[in-house]
Amino acid sequence: MPGASLLVLYASQTGNAQDVAERIGREAQRRYYAVRVLPADAYLPRVAQLPGEPALVFVASTTGQGDQPSNMRQLWKFLLRKSLPPGSLGGIRAAVFGLGDSGYPKYNVVSKKLYRRLEALGAAMLLPLGLGDDQHRSGYEAALDPWLELLWPALRACFPLPPGASEPALGDTSAELEAAAAAAAADAAAGASRDGATTAGSAAHWEALAAARQFDVQQQQHGGGQQQQQQQQPASSRAAAGPATTDGPRGGGGGGGYGPYRPYWSRLASNRRITAPTHFQDVRLLEFDLGCSGISYQPGDVLALVPQQPAAAVDALLARCGWDPQAWVLRQCVREEAEAERLAHFSSPEGRDELYEYNQREGRTVLEVLGDFKSAQPPLEWLLQAAPRLQPRLFSIASSLAAHPARAQLAVAIVEWATPFRRRRRGGEVLVPVWAERGALRLPPTPATPLIMVGPGTGVAPFRAFLQERAAAAAAAAAASAGEAPFPAPSMLFFGCRSQAGDFYFREEWEAMQAAGVLAPPPAGLLTAFSRDGPRKVYVQQRIREHAAEVWRLLQQQPHGAWVYVAGSADKMPAQVAQAFEEVAAQQGGMAPADAAALLRRMELSGRYQVEAWS
Ligand SMILES: Cc1cc2nc3c(=O)[nH]c(=O)nc-3n(C[C@H](O)[C@H](O)[C@H](O)COP(=O)(O)OP(=O)(O)OC[C@H]3O[C@@H](n4cnc5c(N)ncnc54)[C@H](O)[C@@H]3O)c2cc1C
Ligand SMILES: Cc1cc2nc3c(=O)[nH]c(=O)nc-3n(C[C@H](O)[C@H](O)[C@H](O)COP(=O)(O)O)c2cc1C
Repeated sequence: MPGASLLVLYASQTGNAQDVAERIGREAQRRYYAVRVLPADAYLPRVAQLPGEPALVFVASTTGQGDQPSNMRQLWKFLLRKSLPPGSLGGIRAAVFGLGDSGYPKYNVVSKKLYRRLEALGAAMLLPLGLGDDQHRSGYEAALDPWLELLWPALRACFPLPPGASEPALGDTSAELEAAAAAAAADAAAGASRDGATTAGSAAHWEALAAARQFDVQQQQHGGGQQQQQQQQPASSRAAAGPATTDGPRGGGGGGGYGPYRPYWSRLASNRRITAPTHFQDVRLLEFDLGCSGISYQPGDVLALVPQQPAAAVDALLARCGWDPQAWVLRQCVREEAEAERLAHFSSPEGRDELYEYNQREGRTVLEVLGDFKSAQPPLEWLLQAAPRLQPRLFSIASSLAAHPARAQLAVAIVEWATPFRRRRRGGEVLVPVWAERGALRLPPTPATPLIMVGPGTGVAPFRAFLQERAAAAAAAAAASAGEAPFPAPSMLFFGCRSQAGDFYFREEWEAMQAAGVLAPPPAGLLTAFSRDGPRKVYVQQRIREHAAEVWRLLQQQPHGAWVYVAGSADKMPAQVAQAFEEVAAQQGGMAPADAAALLRRMELSGRYQVEAWS
C-alpha cells in the first residue's frame, strides 16, 4: 500500500541519535510511510532533491563542546551556505529532535541551530523542537515519547492515510506488523536501494542488518574499489561487529582507506599496566601494530576500536549487546501472562521510568533480558532490528608516528565492571578492528609556539603524542643541520591524578621531556595535582591559578603566544579549567571578567584554545 515519503536523517556521534532515527523509521513504516533512514552526510550527494522531499525528520545530537557530530558536518556546511535563498525549503515539512546533556554549557546547541536554519530556509516546522536530555532520570526517552505523540498526528494531518488503511495500534499482532512493514517496504524498496538507506522494518532491512554484521559483506557493498583486506578475520569477531546502516556514527579518514566499513585488523602488540598494582584503577598502555596498513595519524588524532564479542557470547544470541527500549517488540512474542503484563507496563507512558531503570541504567544485555522474560521467543529478524549495534570506542592516540613508526599507543582506563581487553588476551594473538580518525586537537603550525596542556587522567594521552612529535622533530632537525636546528618552545603540562604512587603514569617520560627542553624546566614545565595525597583535594585548575604569572607570560609571548589544550573527562573539568584561565587573564592582564571571558572565546574561535573531552 503506497504511503507518503518520509526522510529521516540523523547526526550521531555515539549511536543514540541513530537509535532514535531507526526507531522513528520503524514506527513510521508501521504507519504506512515510505521511509528512508540515513546519516545526514550520506544525503549530501542528493541534497539537490531536498526541496522536493515532502517530509523530513532530523535527529541530531550535540558532541564535543557544542559541536556537530562528524556525520553531519558536510550537510551542515551546505545548509549554512549564504547562497541558499530564504524560501528554498518552502515545500518541505520538517521536524527536529535533539539529543544532548544539560550538564554541558552548550546544551543541545546543534539541534537548536538546525531547527532555526531549517525554519529560516522556509521549511514548515511541524512541531516545536524536541530536546532529549541525558540528565533526565529517564534519559532522552523522557522527551522523545511525548514529542513522537505530537509528531504522528502532525504528519498525518499533512499526509492522510491511504484509502482503506487504518492507523495501526501499539498492540498490533506480529502478522499485522509484518504486513504493514511489507506494504511500506514494497513502496520504499526501489528508492531505498537507490539511496543506500535502510528501510526500517522491512524484510530487506532485516537482511541488511544481518549482513551488516559481517565486514566482508560490507566491504563488497561499500569498499568495492578499495584495496583488498588481506588478513584473516576471526569468525566470532566478524559475526559480532559492524555497522548496520550506510555509515557509522563517525567516519574514518586516517589514511589507508580504513573506516567503519573496512577496519584494519590490527594486532595488539603489547598491553602494559601503567598504574600501580595496588591502585584502584587499571590503566593500560596498549600498543597496536599498524603493520603495512598505510594508516597514518597526526598528534591529536584518535583511534577507533570496535569492541568484540567472545564466540560463546555471539552464539548466545548476540549476548552483551544493548536492548532497544521498545518493549512492545518483545511483547508480541511473550507467552506467559505475567511477563506480558510486565512488558505492557514497560511500554506504557507510566512504565517509562521503570523501563529506563531496568534497561539503560542497568546496562542489561539482550541475553539478560531474554533470561528475565523466559517465555519470549522473538524471531531473529526482530532481534537484529531492535538490538543496537556495538558502537566503536574512540581513544586519543598517545604516541607519535615519528617516535613509534607503524604503531599507535593508547592509554586506556579499564572500567571495573568490564574487562574486554583482558578477556581478549586469552586467545593468544589478539586482532582488533581499528581505524584512525581526525581528533579535535591540532598542534600549532610552528614549534616556536609554546603549548599549555591540561590533561588529567587519560586526558594526558594526546599530549604524550604532541611531546613525542616535537621531540622527534627536534632531534631529526638537529641531526640534519648539525646542531643548528630551531628548538621547540618549552611548554607546560598540567597533569592530575589521585596519587603520586598510584597513577602518576609516564612520569619518567615527562621528566625526560623536561631534561630535553621540550617541556619547560622545573618548577614550571610539569605541574601535577594529586587529588588524594594531601589533606585537601587539589585539581589541575588550582595549579593553573597558582602558576598564573607563568601561564600569562606564555600566552602573551611574542611573536608566538602559547596555544592552550584541554583533554579528558567531559564532566565538570573543561568548564572549571576554562574558568581558571579566565581568572588568570583577569588577574594578570588586569581585565574585567567579561573581557577575560571574551578573550577565551576569541582564542577558542581562532583555534588557540582547543578541547577534546569524553565521558
Ligand atoms: C574523542 C575521545 C577520546 C577518548 N580518549 C580516551 C583515552 O585516551 N583513554 C580512555 O580510557 N578513554 C578515552 N575515551 C573514552 C572511551 O572511548 C570509552 O568511552 C571508555 O573507554 C568507556 O568505554 P567502555 O567500552 O569501557 O564502556 P561503555 O560500555 O561504553 O560504557 C560507558 C560508561 O557507562 C557506564 N556503564 C555502562 N555499563 C555499565 C555497567 N554495567 N556497570 C557500571 N557502569 C556502566 C560506565 O561509567 C562506563 O564508563 C575517549 C572518548 C572520546 C570520545
Ligand atoms: C564527549 C561528549 C561531549 C558532549 N558534548 C555535549 C554538548 O556540548 N552539549 C550537549 O548538549 N550534549 C553533549 N553531550 C551529550 C550527548 O549529546 C548525548 O549523550 C547524546 O545522547 C549523544 O547522542 P549520540 O550518541 O547520537 O551522539 C556530549 C557527550 C559526549 C560523550
